[in-house]
Amino acid sequence: MNNNEIIQKTADHIKTLFSGEGSGHDWWHIFRVWNNAKLISKDIPDANLFIVELGALLHDIADYKFHNGDETIGGKTAAKWLTDLGVDESSINAVVHIVDNVSYKGGGKNMMKSIEGKIVQDADRLDAIGAIGIARTFAYGGAKGNEIYNPDIAPKLNMSKEEYKKSKSTQINHFHEKLLLLKDLFNTDSAKKIAQHRHDYMKDYLDEFIAEWNGEK
Ligand code: NI
Repeated sequence: MNNNEIIQKTADHIKTLFSGEGSGHDWWHIFRVWNNAKLISKDIPDANLFIVELGALLHDIADYKFHNGDETIGGKTAAKWLTDLGVDESSINAVVHIVDNVSYKGGGKNMMKSIEGKIVQDADRLDAIGAIGIARTFAYGGAKGNEIYNPDIAPKLNMSKEEYKKSKSTQINHFHEKLLLLKDLFNTDSAKKIAQHRHDYMKDYLDEFIAEWNGEK
């Protein structure tokens, strides 16, 4: 199997696993991250696109029904899939590094070492902000039963990983607690540029939201 066939088979597999999921981690999230990753990679000729694409396609594999607090399950699941496709060991290790380190849980420091991983991480974060990020935030809040907004609940900043996992909040607060902070965490210059525009768009949206909430517009 050549590299393109491996990527296509992986995309088909992930599409089957993730289709129809309603909390914002569905196949189309993976699809957008895959596209974002390819877009960012255009400015980074040293990046190995095969690793970038497989990392993007497999980055949320742990979120598919397996998760029981085992943070290595994603990497193991990805490794098994790629081994079955006959992918070489060093490529598998590179993809597993991405899958194991992609996610942001608040307060943690970035363990992503490879440029391919930094690209995938940026691509994933881009999908959390901007117009798409707004849609996903409210879809996720609906799935969790959270309020859209409650002015009596203040945003909680500087949370530890444990507090972040436990805390119940509103979706508007989620912008302040996480999404508006992502702008400073991008690794690559090309993602930073895209992120700035998406960030400004979210801020405009929040200004509009609060103005409408208060009956000012
Ligand atoms: Ni993701």
